[in-house]
Amino acid sequence: MTISSPPSPGHDEVQDATAQQTAAKRNLWLHFTRMGSYADGEMPVIVRGEGQYVYDSRGRRYLDGLAGLFVSQIGHGRKEVAEAAARQGGELAYFPLWSYANPRAIELAERLADLAPGDLNRVFFTTSGSEAVESAWKLAKQYFKLTGQPGRYKVLSREIAYHGTSMGALAITGLPAIKEPFEPLPPGGVRVPNTNFYRAPAFVADDLTTFGLWAADEIERAILREGPESVAAVYLEPVQNSGGCFPPPPGYFQRVREICDRHGVLLVSDEVICAFGRLGYYFGSQRYGYQPDVITFAKGVTSGYAPMGGMLVSDRLMEPFTEGTATFLHGVTFAGHPVCCAVALANLDVFEKEDLLGNVRAHEAGFRATLEKLLDLPIVGDVRGDGYFYGIELVKDKATRESFNDEESERLLRGFLSHALFDAGLICRADDRGDPVIQLSPPLTCTQEHFDEMEQILRSVLSQAWTRL
Ligand SMILES: Cc1ncc(COP(=O)(O)O)c(C=O)c1O
Repeated sequence: MTISSPPSPGHDEVQDATAQQTAAKRNLWLHFTRMGSYADGEMPVIVRGEGQYVYDSRGRRYLDGLAGLFVSQIGHGRKEVAEAAARQGGELAYFPLWSYANPRAIELAERLADLAPGDLNRVFFTTSGSEAVESAWKLAKQYFKLTGQPGRYKVLSREIAYHGTSMGALAITGLPAIKEPFEPLPPGGVRVPNTNFYRAPAFVADDLTTFGLWAADEIERAILREGPESVAAVYLEPVQNSGGCFPPPPGYFQRVREICDRHGVLLVSDEVICAFGRLGYYFGSQRYGYQPDVITFAKGVTSGYAPMGGMLVSDRLMEPFTEGTATFLHGVTFAGHPVCCAVALANLDVFEKEDLLGNVRAHEAGFRATLEKLLDLPIVGDVRGDGYFYGIELVKDKATRESFNDEESERLLRGFLSHALFDAGLICRADDRGDPVIQLSPPLTCTQEHFDEMEQILRSVLSQAWTRL
């Protein structure tokens, strides 16, 4: 296995690491993290990255099986991308997109429009995925007000789906536990079933296509129940992340497209994770052959070398804003930041030069087959996903698909698996926001040797987990 130890840290470095721990515990607030859990233990500090690996402050190496947080598509430590940021910083570090364009934002918008499916040719930049999701909702609401349908404000999204944390995005997110502390949220969020075939209702559990069409038709039933004249948009990820990677069944998106067209509802493809090669295409909707009205993106557009998000829309949605005095009354200070745009352009250069989409397509079958070997373990119930994006669902009883109760999940995921996988040299995600799953979403440069490394670590740690139950 794989914690390789490059030269052991010297005395000064150990002292530095200790001082760093003290300062981190005193002053830093980690996101979605139980800070109390570091009262006695060490906070991991990642100091350096190279290719598919990162290193911590103690000199230990980890395979980055999650690309940071579904972000580092081209891998770590790319000097040419960092240099593009430095060059742009020297030329024009900042100027707002409010009333002014800048050359890198123009170039990036043009390049994204060329890559995007169908008629999506207008880019509205943001600085994160949540802002992108929220911007699309605001656009839908203002668009419908300007086009004579002011009652349309509701948004449909799927159970357990994660669409971000700002108040608007959180209203679209389908995870009750992370919403409850912040209620009341903006009104209008409506839930529909997701495409978790492993947990399909019994009456559609025998056939994937039938299940998918049922799940799509549930969207139409929800639109009709709410009143089509009140529904603005449906938000769907190409592969739903939260819950553990639910790919769309055959025909699902085609049926959803028909339903949206029938009721005049916008289809927003939330590709914050699924764009930029995660599924072997620039956009996830291209893999599954559907045409969204809006694509929201973030994360992989810069591979994390700078923060950026945005939405891609068609001229049709832009039309009410291109004539007369109408203005989309929305914006953020750092959107279209010249340095971030330069980084995104350099990131896309790497995609092209190294044919990263080709790499994913060439190796994804190997990734799947390698992870599927784990199905011989009693704790592994399901392996699902596409491209370089997989979830492994853990179960107590494979035959009945019985899951763990809250106390067992807590003990298994938080008490053991997260730490054990990290200690064994693999960064991945152990998540129980739906049923307990391990998620993998490695850099797009990974090949079979990395899949084998993941499988070996997972096999060893999951086998230990089973003996502890
Ligand atoms: C599908 C999806 N939408 C939106 C977001 C929110 O993005 P951000 O964390 O950049 O605000 C995420 C983040 O993981 C996401 O996965």
